[in-house]
This record gives sequence, structure tokens and C-alpha cells, in this order.
Amino acid sequence: MLDLTGKTAVITGASRGIGKEIAMKYASQGANIAFLHFMDADNAVQTEKELLEKGVKVKGYECNVADFEACKAAFDQILEDFGEVHILVNNAGITKDKLMLQMTEADFDAVIAVNLKGAFNMTKAVYQHFMKKRRGRIINMSSIVGITGNAGQVNYSSSKAGLIGLTKSVAKELGSRNVTVNAIAPGFIKTDMTDAMPEKAKEATLAAIPMKRMGQVEDIANLALFLASDEASYITGEIIKVDGGLAM
Ligand code: NAI
Repeated sequence: MLDLTGKTAVITGASRGIGKEIAMKYASQGANIAFLHFMDADNAVQTEKELLEKGVKVKGYECNVADFEACKAAFDQILEDFGEVHILVNNAGITKDKLMLQMTEADFDAVIAVNLKGAFNMTKAVYQHFMKKRRGRIINMSSIVGITGNAGQVNYSSSKAGLIGLTKSVAKELGSRNVTVNAIAPGFIKTDMTDAMPEKAKEATLAAIPMKRMGQVEDIANLALFLASDEASYITGEIIKVDGGLAM
């Protein structure tokens, strides 16, 4: 069950955090892993090493997902190295949290460029390949704040809401080709990203979670595995929250 043997997954932002855990989970189920990372070389080397211990084919590629041409070049290289691709996980993401009053145009553009346009760039790169093969899985990492909004995250929540539109639109375009496109909306998950939050904000968020704990990267990777598997072949266009009840 949930076997990915013989499949190749491309995962963006997998040098650490949620993306790394998804890569580890997929590799444990037999998938070959091509992962993208950016300005995080030490972690990428370590991730590659840990993935290789799973006995699958693994390669890391330095690529800024905000760069359209770089994404195309990375994907072409991945096809040359791996032959074909079955799964794309658009996970790379950044925050530049500030209240709107302090948020600059550059803060807004940078977050949209990585979180939203990055997913467009990689989806564009994989699109024809999946169309021709008449199969494929695309999983986009949104966030509950893309549904609820969040003070101090105008840029981030806009990018994550944009990903929901992207997910549903591509799902409609590629459904007849047997390609499923879904988004995961994590709540408050323990990673370097959330470790960087101010202590007060962390406490307030924790208090609002019905399950009274932060999520673990495994909680997200488990759903990412299911969505990538044959068992999820009739699920598309869905935005699935994994948040301990935070945004219900
Ligand atoms: P993280 O900061 O630990 O990891 C982010 C990854 O993205 C890193 O591997 C980093 O190298 C990569 N990355 C950053 N900019 C990049 C770029 N321009 N090109 C390519 N790769 C780039 O973050 P975390 O917490 O693991 O988050 C992963 C995803 O999950 C993000 O999209 C984030 O927005 C989303 N998410 C996280 C939540 C959390 O509570 N941690 C909650 C909701 C969503």
C-alpha cells in the first residue's frame, strides 16, 4: 500500500523542513528523488546523503524556483538524469512577515515570486511531460492562512491563496489527462520557518489550536504520500487542511 517503487518525484525546497520529510517518506516507499534547493548547500548535501541511505536514486539541484528559465533548465536536466517524472511537489516557500504598514513592495514581490510564481514555473516545466504521459501528480504546499488570511502576512497569505486558484485551475485543465492536482494547507508545523516566529506569536497560535500542539513534519508528509499514491487517483482539485483543527 502507498508504494511508490519505480516512480520519480521532483520536490522543491527539500533541503530541510517539510520538503525534506516528504522526500524521506517518498524514498522510504521506493521513489527516486530529484530535489531542488536554493542557498542552502550544507543542508542539501546532508539531505542527499540521508536519502541515498534509502537505496533509491537521488540528486539535488541548486535552483531558484522564482527564476522561470532556471526551473525549465533544472527540469530538463532532471528528465535527462532520471528518464521520466511522475510526481511534482511545489513545496519551496519563504516568509517576510510584517504588518501592511511596514511591508514594502519588495517584501510583497519576493514572497509572491517564490511561493506562487515558483509553483507556476515548475508546473509549466512539467506540464507537457505529464500531458504526454497521460498521468502525473502535482501537490502544492499552500497554508491555512491562504484560506483565513492573517495579520502580518499580506504577502504570504496572498501567495498561498493564489496557490489554491492555481491548484484548482490546473486540476481542471489536466483532469482528462489523468493528472491530479491537489494542495495541502498546513497549520502550525514545527520547522525552522516557525522556529523563527516571535515567542508571543507562537504562544497565541498554540492556544488557538484545538489539539493543543504544533504539527510535525511527518503529519504533512503522510498526506503528501497519500496524495502521490495510486490510492488517491480519484482525488483532484482539493485543498486539504492539516492543522489540528486550527482553521475549522
Ligand atoms: P523551511 O524554511 O524550513 O524550508 C523551506 C525550503 O524552501 C528550504 O529547503 C529552502 O531552501 C527552500 N527555498 C526557499 N526559497 C527558495 C527558492 N527561491 N528556490 C528554491 N527553494 C527555496 O520551511 P517549511 O516550514 O519546511 O515550509 C515548507 C513549505 O510549507 C513552505 O511553502 C511553507 O510556506 C509551507 N508551510 C509551512 C508551515 C509551517 O508551519 N512550517 C505552515 C503552512 C505552510
